[in-house]
Amino acid sequence: MNKLCLLGVVVGLALQTAYADSPSQGPQNKDAFVADLLARMTLDEKIGQLRLIAIGGEMTHQRIEAEIAAGRIGGTFNSVTRADNRPMQDAAQRSRLKIPMFFAYDVIHGHRTQFPISLGLAASWDMDAIALSARTSTAEAAADGIDMTFGPMVDISRDPRWGRISEGFGEDTHLVSKIARVMVENIQGPSPANPDRMMASAKHFALYGAIEGGRDYNTVDMSPQRMFQDYLPPYRATVDAGAGGMMVALNSINGVPATSNTWLMQDVLRKQWGFKGVTISDHGAIHELIKHGVASDDREGAKLAIKAGIDMSMNDQAYGEHLPGLLKSGQISQADIDNAVREVLGAKYDMGLFANPYLRIGKAQDDPADVNAESRLHRAEARDVARRTLVLLKNQKQTLPLKKDARIALIGPLADAPDDMLGSWSAAGVATQSVTLLNGLRNAVADPAKVTYAKGANLTDDRATLDFIAHFNPEHVKQAIDPRSGQALIDEALAAARDADVIVAAVGEWRGMTHESASRVALDLPRTQQALITALRATGKPLVMVLMNGRPLTIGEQQRQADAVLETWYSGTEGGNAIADVLFGDYNPSGKLPVTFPRSVGQVPLYYSHLSIGRPFTPGHPGNYSSQYFDSEQGPLYPFGYGLSYTDFSLSDVSLSSKRLSRDGKVTASINVRNVGKVAGETVVQLYLRDVAASMARPVKELKHFRKVMLKPGESQTLTFDIVEGDLKFYNQQLVRAAEAGQFTVMIGLDSQDVKEATFELL
Ligand code: BGC
Repeated sequence: MNKLCLLGVVVGLALQTAYADSPSQGPQNKDAFVADLLARMTLDEKIGQLRLIAIGGEMTHQRIEAEIAAGRIGGTFNSVTRADNRPMQDAAQRSRLKIPMFFAYDVIHGHRTQFPISLGLAASWDMDAIALSARTSTAEAAADGIDMTFGPMVDISRDPRWGRISEGFGEDTHLVSKIARVMVENIQGPSPANPDRMMASAKHFALYGAIEGGRDYNTVDMSPQRMFQDYLPPYRATVDAGAGGMMVALNSINGVPATSNTWLMQDVLRKQWGFKGVTISDHGAIHELIKHGVASDDREGAKLAIKAGIDMSMNDQAYGEHLPGLLKSGQISQADIDNAVREVLGAKYDMGLFANPYLRIGKAQDDPADVNAESRLHRAEARDVARRTLVLLKNQKQTLPLKKDARIALIGPLADAPDDMLGSWSAAGVATQSVTLLNGLRNAVADPAKVTYAKGANLTDDRATLDFIAHFNPEHVKQAIDPRSGQALIDEALAAARDADVIVAAVGEWRGMTHESASRVALDLPRTQQALITALRATGKPLVMVLMNGRPLTIGEQQRQADAVLETWYSGTEGGNAIADVLFGDYNPSGKLPVTFPRSVGQVPLYYSHLSIGRPFTPGHPGNYSSQYFDSEQGPLYPFGYGLSYTDFSLSDVSLSSKRLSRDGKVTASINVRNVGKVAGETVVQLYLRDVAASMARPVKELKHFRKVMLKPGESQTLTFDIVEGDLKFYNQQLVRAAEAGQFTVMIGLDSQDVKEATFELL
């Protein structure tokens, strides 16, 4: 052994021991530690670190442990208890270099306790609530021995046909970027090495939400301007917030799959943005390079992926089987492999696992006797967050709030559907622990017998939908479908409605309908439910429609029939209680839509921040040769940013501190908002900007600032927003981000459509 080598070993051992004593691991220590370890690894061990294996996949537990002990697996995902993870970490400790394993899971909007789905969280426009949900879910997952979450999912989507729109935070760049940052900060906390935190692995880099036609896994073809201006900023926000991981998208971008996209992975992610963490392929994505038509076999796929900069390969064999041969033949270099391994080791270091491989697994004697124990849930937090995510879309004749002594007929296929409350990607959530709307209403009233329930309709009778759901979950369909005829179900509901003062109808989609691989061509309520709403309307009783769904739905007809409409998404473990809080007015709704609701699927994509065009449709001036559909009303059913309250708010005109903005100065926009109703309430004041004439067509408006304010009846507040040059910048034809001199319009409102305007000039 030469002197240098010996020094390396001594430094390495000293550092490792030091880490065991001290959880504060500085960056210099990290680099030296990783370099030393890397120098001592065999090729086989290095490649092992690049393999991320699914629990419950092809390998048995025994085989996985044997592979780990041989140094041939770097991490696993899909195991969710300390007791499950401990034997795997034990196996790693039996391996030659004792490199710890990490355990990952999709903790998307909750763990044991489920919070509302991400689209619902976004509807709160409440960063404190979102932070609380992320912190709480993280603490629960870390307490189950999980080191990394495959989240946050920050794909902008403007296509509700895509089932995964439910997993993201909506259509808007500014709102999603803000949430992306809050999520990462609250998952990782001060350090992902803290025992009650995890590492965030943001996803799906990049542009997954823009797939063609909303068809899952499809292709994306997009101008660089739109990419950089609209779709990439949320991923960038996760990088700026220090996310330790990045999961790579399954789609191609302008013809090149993300998984083999050197421009995306190297030039954008690492060079432009300075990302220093670990990159992870999505499930089987390296193998899929063959189907994408860019690799002729797995060997070529592995070569393309490692060269592009995919550090870890999720659940495929390509790296394990082909990297040795590729290296031997000189098609890839040792540096290609070492660069990837360095990132994996670095991530494990950052997760605190070298200091203590059992950081989150703990000791067996401290394992919870029952992982699903009620005492492990965070119900108060879930309820508080959930009620902030509900959006009141209509409230005619003050139908809401309901009186607690009213006789209520609760009707609908989702009124008592515990697993649907949990929503897509509900991880370790347990349906029997979730509060359905039926439970929630009965919990809230003095006399539960006054809340009667009838199913009223099966969720759907559409064969294709039934087969689709049954394919993943045959039991769900069996349990959910009532064999009685549609008419018999409606008759039962009408009987319940006859004796009631008010009808509450819980309708929407099964959670499996808005999930991965669950794209739809129609966005309407299934016809069984449409018929139910029509029959209920005919009773003449006040009708409240409670929507449960993971995507915007085209419910024009039903919203006309209902007196009140409340969008509740999938509201999580405490959903029923939270919805009851709003229906009875114990909480005044304050949510705002994070995504546009179209009138019909034919309008999709429909989003508020579209580019200016030469022949826009002008409301009140229908006619030929303007941009319109002649067979429909124009515009959205509900615009982005929309949501009502039980009180009313009035806005003053906008006043600006100056009509001119210098490059290093600011213009302060002020607006007074007053609660002119009878109850206290919160609303979200939204500021949009428009570049009136630029070197390229610019959006008709773009959200740049917002604030959620609580006002008592009669109370008013003047809000100020500072507008600076940075707010006006955009990616020009040369892809340079710059602000151009000229006129700008400031628009402030309580949604994206109904706004007050003022103008200023950038000098
Ligand atoms: C999804 C990812 C997810 C992964 C692991 C994939 O099918 O696209 O979002 O993190 O599975 O569960």
